[in-house]
Amino acid sequence: MPLPKAELHLHIEGTLEPELAFALAARNGVTLPYEDTEELRKAYLFDDLQSFLNLYYELMAVLRTEQDFADLADAYLERAAAQGVRHAEIFFDPQAHIARGVEMGTVVDGLWRALEHSEEKHGVSTRLIMCFLRDESAESAMATLEAAKPHLDRITGVGLDSAEVGHPPVKFREVYEAAAALGLRRVAHAGEEGPPEYITEALDVLGVERVDHGLRCMEDPQLVQRLVRERVPLTLCPLSNVRLRAVRVLEDHPLRAMLDAGLLCTVNSDDPAYFGGYVADNYHAVRDALGLELEQMRELARNSFLASFLEHDEERRAR
Ligand code: HPA
Ligand code: ZN
Repeated sequence: MPLPKAELHLHIEGTLEPELAFALAARNGVTLPYEDTEELRKAYLFDDLQSFLNLYYELMAVLRTEQDFADLADAYLERAAAQGVRHAEIFFDPQAHIARGVEMGTVVDGLWRALEHSEEKHGVSTRLIMCFLRDESAESAMATLEAAKPHLDRITGVGLDSAEVGHPPVKFREVYEAAAALGLRRVAHAGEEGPPEYITEALDVLGVERVDHGLRCMEDPQLVQRLVRERVPLTLCPLSNVRLRAVRVLEDHPLRAMLDAGLLCTVNSDDPAYFGGYVADNYHAVRDALGLELEQMRELARNSFLASFLEHDEERRAR
């Protein structure tokens, strides 16, 4: 029995397995520049975040209808349940779809078709987090937030993803202020490829409650102390870090040092179709590479629920 856990850092577009990509391509009359799933899998060798993002955005071309998004999410939830996931906070990238002529409503309603049955069908509760693409303009992010307004009953929070370096959190100050005013929860990718200063900025300028990745905090001991003191959760993605070369090999991953420092770490899969494993695979990989004890595995699973928005919702309801 896998440990019951929450998954807090998962891009739904990053769960698009090659088989589903080809099935959706056939259904929608989209031609992919790959012969078959085998040839496509050979493209899954990345030098850095950008080389991954290029393929990630390219393959999204197969996602066109509500049913496509529903099938994508349902396939993820089924796999997640088998890996012990009881709660998933799922990122999606509306701008990447709107730019291709797929409307916000198609994306949200499609995902919702799967999410609304997830508790009864898979035993997995869900939340949706809409991400802004940080390499697009702040104006585009603001327009995306505007387009999301009719769907806010289904969207719990906002996040920030895509190419990090050169796109500091401060660029999105106004968008995050507007999101907060709408009652949305706030998270952001920071310190994956970008410097520790981006983590500080995400906290101080964007008011995030959780930092996605946050790996590079380890370069700044004062920042680590602050994250420990303020109990800021970090959503780490170990297999992603190896595939995108944020760390050389898993044995070099700072997770153990981060736990020892008292950081509130969680383990997640990021884009599991691309990075060689779903969330339990990430747990097992770090256990084996870093020699984690069962107690540390339990701590990671416990942290995942503590760091989730579910916890806060329950607290709020109890008050
Ligand atoms: N980092 C930044 N943007 C992303 C990622 C990631 O790991 N996955 C999908 N978009
Ligand atoms: Zn991510």
